[in-house]
Amino acid sequence: MVDLNVKINQLELSNPVMTASGTFGYGLEFADLVPLDEIGGIIVKGTTLEHREGNDYPRMTETASGMLNCVGLQNKGADYFCEHIYPQVKDIPTHIIVNVSGNSVDSYAACAAKIDTLDKIPAIELNISCPNVKEGGMSFGVSCDGASSVVRAVRRVYHKTLIVKLSPNVTDIADIARACEAEGADSVSLINTLMGMAIDIERRKPKLSIRTGGLSGPAVKPVAVRMVWDVAHAVKIPVIGLGGIMNAEDAIEFMMAGATAVQIGTANFIDPMVTFKVKTGIADWLERHGCKSVQEIIGAV
Ligand SMILES: Cc1cc2nc3c(=O)[nH]c(=O)nc-3n(C[C@H](O)[C@H](O)[C@H](O)COP(=O)(O)O)c2cc1C
Repeated sequence: MVDLNVKINQLELSNPVMTASGTFGYGLEFADLVPLDEIGGIIVKGTTLEHREGNDYPRMTETASGMLNCVGLQNKGADYFCEHIYPQVKDIPTHIIVNVSGNSVDSYAACAAKIDTLDKIPAIELNISCPNVKEGGMSFGVSCDGASSVVRAVRRVYHKTLIVKLSPNVTDIADIARACEAEGADSVSLINTLMGMAIDIERRKPKLSIRTGGLSGPAVKPVAVRMVWDVAHAVKIPVIGLGGIMNAEDAIEFMMAGATAVQIGTANFIDPMVTFKVKTGIADWLERHGCKSVQEIIGAV
């Protein structure tokens, strides 16, 4: 038996494969299809202090080897999550991690403080990288000062494992990662989506309602692997890698670049079992290569 355990600060994962925010709902929707106890963790849909409607439709379009989305953090707000969603997800037999977003430093901190009170949520992922909202979101994640200010404020009020999700829409992602580490982040996850655009040439109009959207899927993988490599060499805290992972080989690539754990997003829309399959695929690969533990491949390049 290969040991698949990894640690993100205090958070012990039974295996390194998690689902990415916005692509696996609250996990509940998949309970009949996927053995949730075999998933390393579920990062639930982005949660904000206040209710958000999200952007107008159309807000998704397929592209070559990927997709563009501009959902815009549609959710019912932190109070609704605490009162209605939390009671339903708290006993799911894996780690449930809440993805927290905001439009000001104070709203990030207020949302994180509410989630801090929930016993069975061991971590949050702070989304300072959403490209699809007018205020806040990615604007905090594209400068060291912006990232520092959010992480500092959240660190004051949030006492469990704090993961910060980074934007690839920057010149030097390693600088942003260092800024987050300096303010007390326990881990960084990367990448969120890359800003993109697609045009319907018959209508001479953008395909998405707000013109631009975030690109995800296999098209972004080489960019993401390079960024994980850069960040893993810049910080001491564990790095969580994502962006275009479709199978176990892709996940192993991220881990060899320096990721302690990985997340799977867009691939869930094609096969909801993908996270489970990637987990078993990693175990098979390790066994075939005579490895006793997944630790042997982390940063192996
Ligand atoms: C439809 C959709 C919704 C998303 N919603 C969120 C979100 O609420 N919060 C967040 O941090 N990332 C969100 N993301 C980004 C993903 O979590 C992930 O970072 C990105 O898609 C890259 O990984 P992938 O190529 O495996 O999908 C979303 C992505 C998609 C496709």
